[in-house]
Amino acid sequence: MTPHNEAKPGDYAETVLLPGDPLRAKWIAENFFDDARQVNGVRNCLGFTGTWKGKPVSVQATGMGQPSTAIYVHELLDVYKVKNLIRVGTCGGLNPKVKVRDVVIAMTASTDSAMNQSFAPFSYAPFADYELLRRAVDLATTRGFRWHVASVSSSDTFYAPGGIGDYKKLVAHGVVAVEMEAAIIYTLAKRFDARALTICTMSDCLVSGEEIDASERQSSLKDMVELALDTGLDI
Ligand code: HPA
Repeated sequence: MTPHNEAKPGDYAETVLLPGDPLRAKWIAENFFDDARQVNGVRNCLGFTGTWKGKPVSVQATGMGQPSTAIYVHELLDVYKVKNLIRVGTCGGLNPKVKVRDVVIAMTASTDSAMNQSFAPFSYAPFADYELLRRAVDLATTRGFRWHVASVSSSDTFYAPGGIGDYKKLVAHGVVAVEMEAAIIYTLAKRFDARALTICTMSDCLVSGEEIDASERQSSLKDMVELALDTGLDI
């Protein structure tokens, strides 16, 4: 038990999916897991454990942004000894080559967050686990998804005052999307010798203004969750 998590040791599987939204965690447990049971309800930041294709798996909401995510991820790694973390979320597109609905698999995550500056100096470059990344790419290819292994920006600001202009120099150096959590998940996973990957659906393009609609959001979410669950299967 922790101040933010009422689960007991052993309540989480070794592989945990990490959506931001608690209701998305519930939706994943209800629609994909067999034998799902709630393991955390503190602050309504829901966590569930069940099975996928007969193997134990969990899902834990992180809330939005790196400080909130860091609390849940740190505790999953330190207290619950979780080994594989797969964030499933959405991202905003910064490059017209990345279209809405495309799957962005984040190889690295640059961040403006102060969290990483104190944890890891030298402009530390948070990076994904290669084995999870390779598996996700192989599965996405087999499934015919439009995917990009890419560098993302984990920003502390959703409403960037300068809009896409605030990301111009990152875009000039290959960053294709913005989200809010990947960097701290990667940093903490390395500290605890665990694996981590971020898989995002591109929900809105900051360049064109194009946005995913409600039915597309649901079907791309389903594809992404299945991709994430199969990526973490038997690792
Ligand atoms: N900014 C940050 N995170 C996001 C965005 C965005 O524009 N779109 C989806 N997730």
